Amino acid sequence: MIIEPRMRGFICLTAHPAGAEQSVKNQIEYVKSKGPINGAKKVLVIGSSTGFGLASRISSAFGSDAATIGVFFEKPAAEGKTASPGWYNSAAFEKFAHQAGLYAKSINGDAFSNEVKQQTMDLIKKDLGQVDMVIYSLASPVRTNPNTGVTHRSALKPIGNVYTNKTVDFHTGKVSEISIQPANEEDIENTVAVMGGEDWAMWMKALKDADLLAPGVLTVAYSYIGPALTEPVYRKGTIGRAKDDLEATAFTISDDLKDIDGKAYVSVNKALVTQASSAIPVIPLYISLLYKIMKAEGVHEGTIEQIQRLYAERLFTGKEVPTDDKGRIRIDDWEMRDDIQQKVADLWIQATTENLAEIGDLEGYRKDFYHLFGFDFDGVDYKADANEMVQVSSIPQE
Ligand code: NAI
Repeated sequence: MIIEPRMRGFICLTAHPAGAEQSVKNQIEYVKSKGPINGAKKVLVIGSSTGFGLASRISSAFGSDAATIGVFFEKPAAEGKTASPGWYNSAAFEKFAHQAGLYAKSINGDAFSNEVKQQTMDLIKKDLGQVDMVIYSLASPVRTNPNTGVTHRSALKPIGNVYTNKTVDFHTGKVSEISIQPANEEDIENTVAVMGGEDWAMWMKALKDADLLAPGVLTVAYSYIGPALTEPVYRKGTIGRAKDDLEATAFTISDDLKDIDGKAYVSVNKALVTQASSAIPVIPLYISLLYKIMKAEGVHEGTIEQIQRLYAERLFTGKEVPTDDKGRIRIDDWEMRDDIQQKVADLWIQATTENLAEIGDLEGYRKDFYHLFGFDFDGVDYKADANEMVQVSSIPQE
């Protein structure tokens, strides 16, 4: 079928398999171009199909020749209906990994559930024995706690006061003001239950109890801080509470791993266009201004550049892992540079519908958004007939 982007609100209903393959290929080429990384060799990536998790899987496999098991929650294709982008990304990843002689298997299902944890552990036991790194990169609006059966829905809201600021509809370029009502206690608890550290700790405990963690194991989850501009809706809002909880969980996991010499880290990453970040009000405007400045300064990075640098210059240097005073790895260092933040803050005041295309990188935002779904890649013929029924080779067909 001929596959075209079909947008609805902040999501795209279609995805392009050949574009997804091109995206994965470009990321692999980038990692290979930067040379080998003396990193982990048997890696479990939870949330491995898009964004930072996919970049982690690619960096491990093609930077360190690692065997990878990827866990994700994606929709396979049906006749005439495309799969979700992470499905096509994972199909492409496995294809290239297998061509390179690398072990790569994937599990599609709800990572918050006991069943998917068990299925993953059975696979590790059967094929790898143990893993020496676990990347935790889930981004989800909902989680059912397997112990209580309660389904929690996160809310992206400020805490305490109504927050009013500018935002942009990146499809139309219209800058407008939006007001977000503050969260109540339940919103905060629910957001922490979905995006906090509880599930990460559950994974690590289950893996350790089953003796599936190698001595010296590393586990890394991803967080975000961002500037004062977005603080009320991000770091000091409900999602920020969840990130506080995630960051605190790194310490409890590290304690639990002491006897096997293991360590848990949170890495604070840069703001980037992903399916998760496009859904947060105000963030797209911030990102489009940030992109403009970082590109002009020659320090712009995408997910793959971020994770390749995290591995090569933070995690696997042979030296102690550098952290900030709260024990966090900082790979958002370029985003948070004073000069860059000052310039973004200046542009923020000026930004209007009329000037955003010029003073911000709206085009770059849009391109990245289309890329998430496999569209707008050079080297892909979008007019050609595409086979939507792509399989992820390690996942049995239904
Ligand atoms: P993403 O939306 O691109 O990826 C999310 C991944 O989680 C996908 O692989 C998806 O299949 C998987 N997933 C979601 N629900 C699942 C479930 N129930 N079971 C199994 N898999 C599930 O998100 P992104 O942006 O890469 O986020 C990953 C982490 O990075 C999050 O913790 C996020 O807060 C953090 N981060 C994101 C930043 C950004 O600007 N996008 C900046 C800094 C940190």
